[in-house]
Amino acid sequence: MSQLFTPFTLRGITFKNRIAVSPMSQYRSIDGYANDWHMVHLGRFAMGGAGLVYTEATAVESRGRRTHGDLGLWEDEQIQNLKPIAQFIKKQDAIAGVQLAHAGRKASERRPWHGETPVDDQDVETRNEAPWQAIAPSSIPYADGWPTPIEMQQTEIEEVISAFGQAARRAIEAGFQTIEIYAAHGFLIHQFLSPIANTRTDQWGGSESNRLRFATAVANEIRNTIPEEIPLSFRLSATDWLDGGIEAEQTIETSRALKQAGVDMIDCSTGGIGGTERPKRMEIKQGFQIPFAAQVREKASIPTMGVGFLWDASYCEELIANGSIDMVALARELLDDPNWALHAASALDDNENFERWPEESGWWLMKRDRLLEKLGIRS
Ligand SMILES: Cc1cc2nc3c(=O)[nH]c(=O)nc-3n(C[C@H](O)[C@H](O)[C@H](O)COP(=O)(O)O)c2cc1C
Repeated sequence: MSQLFTPFTLRGITFKNRIAVSPMSQYRSIDGYANDWHMVHLGRFAMGGAGLVYTEATAVESRGRRTHGDLGLWEDEQIQNLKPIAQFIKKQDAIAGVQLAHAGRKASERRPWHGETPVDDQDVETRNEAPWQAIAPSSIPYADGWPTPIEMQQTEIEEVISAFGQAARRAIEAGFQTIEIYAAHGFLIHQFLSPIANTRTDQWGGSESNRLRFATAVANEIRNTIPEEIPLSFRLSATDWLDGGIEAEQTIETSRALKQAGVDMIDCSTGGIGGTERPKRMEIKQGFQIPFAAQVREKASIPTMGVGFLWDASYCEELIANGSIDMVALARELLDDPNWALHAASALDDNENFERWPEESGWWLMKRDRLLEKLGIRS
């Protein structure tokens, strides 16, 4: 029996296997509303056998969007379009998850294919998309050439914490069964955690425990809002890959504190904080972020999800079997092959009769396989 295909339970939710669809922004929303693009984009991964399907980064405030095309849950009216999507995912026996986000100083950015640079007046002419004012823990721009964000005041900090809680409530109403908070890749919560972006001298900055306060406040707010049986996870950048930035030791402390605040799993990514320095010490290879997830799992005693440059089923199997991590998350490999989980099951000898496939296709594939075998065309 393949370990990648064993069920995994967090609180009241059981994932049928250890494979998650990593959040993938599509920048296809208008005013934050989901549409048929999101249904097809997410639905094909659920049909393809993943145990957990996360939405893309979903903004908790309109000014917390990264681009004009971001998905959102900042108003009750946005719930309706997400309902059939969550329901479809569940009907495929997958768990529907939402990723909640606030971009902070990374807001008002162009979509990747429009340059991943700040929106400016030119975008008004070309796409009728105006720039907006970003907020952040400190008034330090994301990178050279980016606008300066406004430093958040105490009341604004409280408003954003509350916005995370409200968006979580809406996510549950839409039918999502698990929530991931986007606290990685230089987004608002990561900005609070990292000394590169947070130079505050009040209770929200300075010491490591002060920089951690915003993340734990968001976790507490959400935990107090959502039902007990719903798992809550955080995506962290385990290191900033920069001198003076977050290192693995801080991430272990952050994970311990989040666990205390009712967080059930840490999804370990890295990088993205920006700043003026070029990232160092990064060697990109298959599973290059896994050592961070394994360390957090061991030292903070919390389940972890590993992500980044994963594509080989046997390698993923080994990561689960040897106890490095509890789940794998894949993004680009799934864009290439939405049926990756089903193919992985076959590669690991766990899908002989195509029983893991939706029967509408599995039945035909089984018949074809038998015929090909009988004719000696394929063994
Ligand atoms: C199209 C695309 C959109 C992405 N959008 C998000 C996002 O909304 N939230 C997030 O946490 N990561 C996002 N990521 C990062 C992925 O979730 C993942 O961490 C990263 O691509 C590394 O995994 P991979 O090597 O399997 O692609 C995105 C990646 C891709 C390819």
